[in-house]
Amino acid sequence: MPADLFETMRSTRSMRRLKPDPVPDAVLAQVLEAGTCAPSGGNMQGWRFLVVRDQAVKDAVAHWYRRGWHEIVGPRYRSAPPPPGSTPERQARLLEAAEHLADHIHEAPVWIIPCSSAPATRTSGASIYPAVQNMLLACRALGLGATLTTLYLLFEQEAEAALGLPEGVHSYAILPIGWPVGKFGPVRRAPLAEVVYQDRWGSAWQAPD
Ligand SMILES: Cc1cc2nc3c(=O)[nH]c(=O)nc-3n(C[C@H](O)[C@H](O)[C@H](O)COP(=O)(O)O)c2cc1C
Repeated sequence: MPADLFETMRSTRSMRRLKPDPVPDAVLAQVLEAGTCAPSGGNMQGWRFLVVRDQAVKDAVAHWYRRGWHEIVGPRYRSAPPPPGSTPERQARLLEAAEHLADHIHEAPVWIIPCSSAPATRTSGASIYPAVQNMLLACRALGLGATLTTLYLLFEQEAEAALGLPEGVHSYAILPIGWPVGKFGPVRRAPLAEVVYQDRWGSAWQAPD
């Protein structure tokens, strides 16, 4: 019996601590195929997926990811309040996990990098991120841990050069993937009442009892 989709969505968390054990190609193919099930504008399927296992490439890109975390994103998050639905303790755990990923992302056995040669705008992103979410859900369904990461884009040119992307091709994320060290658990989010409006901006939506 396949996993219930809603349960899968509710437990598709960022899994930042990964074992070095290899992910078989047949399993990875299931993840990539789920990505290509996603919609794209005009069904153009302009996405391209770079699978990276090469240690030298991962090491070179990880250098920029680490700098992005340690010099910019880490200090910024540490001085900000916890996000909606979180607590200072949970936020501290998240920062610890994010720092762990920053220091170990090159050890993830495989990365998927979704790319496109369309001009990088909201519209082009709208044809890439549905595939990304499908792949995250597929990873969860297969018991693989993954995280959508973009902070390496703080050093976009350097990181994309290290990835060897040709002129005009841009990456939209790095998904480090591997078998998770910890357990999957529920995602923490703000309640609907805080994020859904009815007819007018700011007017509360009446959730059913
Ligand atoms: C657009 C986007 C960019 C993100 N970039 C990073 C990143 O660079 N590094 C990281 O560790 N997590 C990154 N995340 C993961 C979020 O921090 C995570 O989804 C969020 O804290 C909620 O936690 P959860 O996924 O465990 O429910 C990103 C998520 C999104 C949607």
